[in-house]
Amino acid sequence: MSRSISSYGRVIGIGSYLPKNIMTNDDLAKIVETSDEWITERTGIKQRHISEALVDTTESMAVEAAKKAVADAGIDPLKIGLIVVASTTPNVLFPVLSATVQAAVNADNAMCFDVNAACPGFVTAFVTAQNYLKSGMVDYALVVGAENLSNYTDFTDRGTCILFGDGAGACVLQADPELRYDAIMRAAGKRRECLRCETYMQKGVEKTEEFLKSNYINMDGQTVFKFAVTEVPRIIEDLLNKAGVSADEVDYFILHQANRRIIESVAKRLKQPLEKFPMNIEKTGNTSSASIPILLDEMKKDGRIGDGKKKAVMSSFGAGLLWNAVLTDI
Ligand code: UT7
Repeated sequence: MSRSISSYGRVIGIGSYLPKNIMTNDDLAKIVETSDEWITERTGIKQRHISEALVDTTESMAVEAAKKAVADAGIDPLKIGLIVVASTTPNVLFPVLSATVQAAVNADNAMCFDVNAACPGFVTAFVTAQNYLKSGMVDYALVVGAENLSNYTDFTDRGTCILFGDGAGACVLQADPELRYDAIMRAAGKRRECLRCETYMQKGVEKTEEFLKSNYINMDGQTVFKFAVTEVPRIIEDLLNKAGVSADEVDYFILHQANRRIIESVAKRLKQPLEKFPMNIEKTGNTSSASIPILLDEMKKDGRIGDGKKKAVMSSFGAGLLWNAVLTDI
C-alpha cells in the first residue's frame, strides 16, 4: 500500500439514513403514561424514526448511509483503505457490519472492523480512523454510526422509550496535510451501572422476567444527565486548551443529541451562544452513535458545513461511562 500522504483526514463525503416510520410524542402517549408536553419540555424531542420490522436492520441502515457518503465524496470506492462501523445494537454479531458495508459499496481494498462504544461510538470510530490515516496506513476511510435502538427499547418504560430513535450516518475521510485535528477520549468504568443492557444469549442464566427486562436499555436518567452536563463541558475545555483554540473561535459544537437540556447546559457552561450548538433532536430523538453523523449530513445539505473552513468540536457521551471530544475543520 502507498504511504503517499500521512496526515489526519478531512470529511469529504457525508450520508445518512432514517427509517420512514415516525413515532410522535402523541403516539407514545397512547402506549405509556406520558405527554407531548412532558417529553418536549424535558428532552426537546417531538418525534423519532423507528425501524420497520424486517425492512430496516442495523446492516441495511449502515449500508444506505455509507452508500450516500461514498457518492457524496465522489471517489472510487477502491481507494478506501479502512471501514469502521460503530454500533451498539447490531442485528448480527458477525459477519461484522463493516464487512457488509464493504461489500455493498464495493470498497474491496478496505480493511474492516466494528467498534462498540455505545453512544460515543461514532466519534470513537472517527478517532480510530484518524489514527490509521495519520500513520500513513490508509489514505481514505469510511466511518459509519448505525443503530436500531428500538429493538432494545422497553416500550413499557416511560423513562427510556421516549428518548430513542433509529438511523445511521456515515462520513468519508481523506488524508489532508492542511487539516486541523485534535481529540480526547475518556472513560469511567467504575460508573458503568447507570446505563446497561444485557444480551439474551447467556448460558446458564434463567430467563426470568427480571432477566428479560435486563435485555432492554436500563438507565438511571438523572445520573446520566448529571454526568453529561459535568463531563462534556470539561472535556471540551480540556481539548480546546490542548489545541490552543478558544471557544469563541469554534463555529459549531456538534454534540451527541441526547437531550436538549444537556446541550443548553453545556452551552451555558462554555459561555457560548446556543446558535453554535446545532440540534435535530426534535425530529430524530437520541439515535446513539448515529446522532452526530446524521446531524452532520443535515448541516452539509443546508450549507452550514462542507467548505472545510468551519472549526467544529464534536463531542459525545454515554454508556460505559465513555465520553470524548474532537476538534476539526469541516
Ligand atoms: O445517550 C446518552 C444516554 N442517555 C441520556 O443522555 C439521558 C440523560 N437523562 C435524561 O435525559 C433525563 O434524565 C430524562 C429525560 C430521562 C428524565 O428527565 P428528568 O427531568 O431527569 O426526570 P426524572 O427522571 O427526574 O423524573 C421526574 C418525574 C418523575 O415523577 P415523580 O417521581 O417526580 O412523580 C418521573 O416518574 O417525571 C416522571 N417521568 C415522566 N413523566 C411523564 C419520567 N419519565 C416520564 C415521562 N412522562 N416519559
